[in-house]
Amino acid sequence: MKRIGMLTSGGDCQGLNSTLRGVAKALYQEYGNDIEIYGFRDGYRGLIEGDYRLMTSRDFSGILTIGGTILGTSRQPFKNMKDPDENGVTKCDKMVKTYKDMELDCLVILGGNGTTKSANMLREEGCNVISLPKTIDNDLWGTDMTFGYQTAMDIATDVIDKIHSTATSHSRVFVVEIMGHGAGWLTLTSGIAGGADIILIPEIPYSLEAVCRTLEARRKRGHTFSIIAVAEGAISKEEAALSKKEFKAARAAMKEPSIGFRLANELNSMCDQEVRVVNPGHFQRGGGPDAYDRVLTTRLGAGAARLIKHQQYGNMVALRNNDIIAVPLSEVAGKLKVVPTDDQMVETARAIGISFGDGAEYKDEKKKKKKDKEKDKDKKKKE
Ligand code: F6P
Repeated sequence: MKRIGMLTSGGDCQGLNSTLRGVAKALYQEYGNDIEIYGFRDGYRGLIEGDYRLMTSRDFSGILTIGGTILGTSRQPFKNMKDPDENGVTKCDKMVKTYKDMELDCLVILGGNGTTKSANMLREEGCNVISLPKTIDNDLWGTDMTFGYQTAMDIATDVIDKIHSTATSHSRVFVVEIMGHGAGWLTLTSGIAGGADIILIPEIPYSLEAVCRTLEARRKRGHTFSIIAVAEGAISKEEAALSKKEFKAARAAMKEPSIGFRLANELNSMCDQEVRVVNPGHFQRGGGPDAYDRVLTTRLGAGAARLIKHQQYGNMVALRNNDIIAVPLSEVAGKLKVVPTDDQMVETARAIGISFGDGAEYKDEKKKKKKDKEKDKDKKKKE
């Protein structure tokens, strides 16, 4: 009899249920009645507290298209996992105890960066673990794609699409704030898909002057509106020059609730146009998975079951060059996949005139001005 535990941890996203379904269906197919699947409630909390239930095949029926997670989720920060409680017992100790008491063969863990770090910690503690890459941020190292990302991109794109009409009617600038603290994938791709004029991501610090200049240039060309897609983790050039501590303090002192609102306030006082903000927030994680994510999660889920069958534990199931592969958790844990500043998608966006607010489009102009000045000087000297 195989005994498998499953949990979903961290922020939810589309495709958690379809992944659970993919794993379970493939396992039931392989082992028939010779398998028990246990679902832990609210992610690592359930594993810590021994809060679980025996699932049946019926639990995994009809959930392909359902949003959220049938198991529930919670955030259990990795940094606290080894803090002892009043009895000197850590959360990590408790999880390992639950695993051993239940005599599990493997833990299947669905989550993003923090979750994967904890999954690797459990592996180091001797548990058999397989993780699956979840997050709308697409910032998990080791996989070309995380599940949830494509569906969230559809939603964020739809927001940018829809804001175009009112932006045009009122000749306004709209700042659309898109999720993603550490990486700008979602903002970059939904910005391109939605036809944003300016895209601001954490990887490319922006200058307010450059953003204003681009808005002004668009107006001069006869465009009455502009759309700025800004990642919630976007930073200005001034902020990029700060130490981690200084940056934290500066953000703590920020009076606006988020970067989108701060940007809008700043632009409102600098530009002639009215600037408004749209923040779709958790809508981006809402609802069921799109067709792409349904296929991806089914493939990843079946991939996890395959690894269990072959006892290839200690891996994350990943998508690489359209193949489902296993990547050692030790290689993945703690690594963030950010947007390379020379990524082809960044270059494509620049090539069609999308600004990243870094003033790159004005660099040649600066060089030309410098050259012209030098020429003038030479001329004057000769005279
Ligand atoms: O990691 C996914 C994510 O949606 C991020 O894009 C966002 O910054 C964060 O989670 C929000 O977390 P919470 O739901 O805890 O507010």
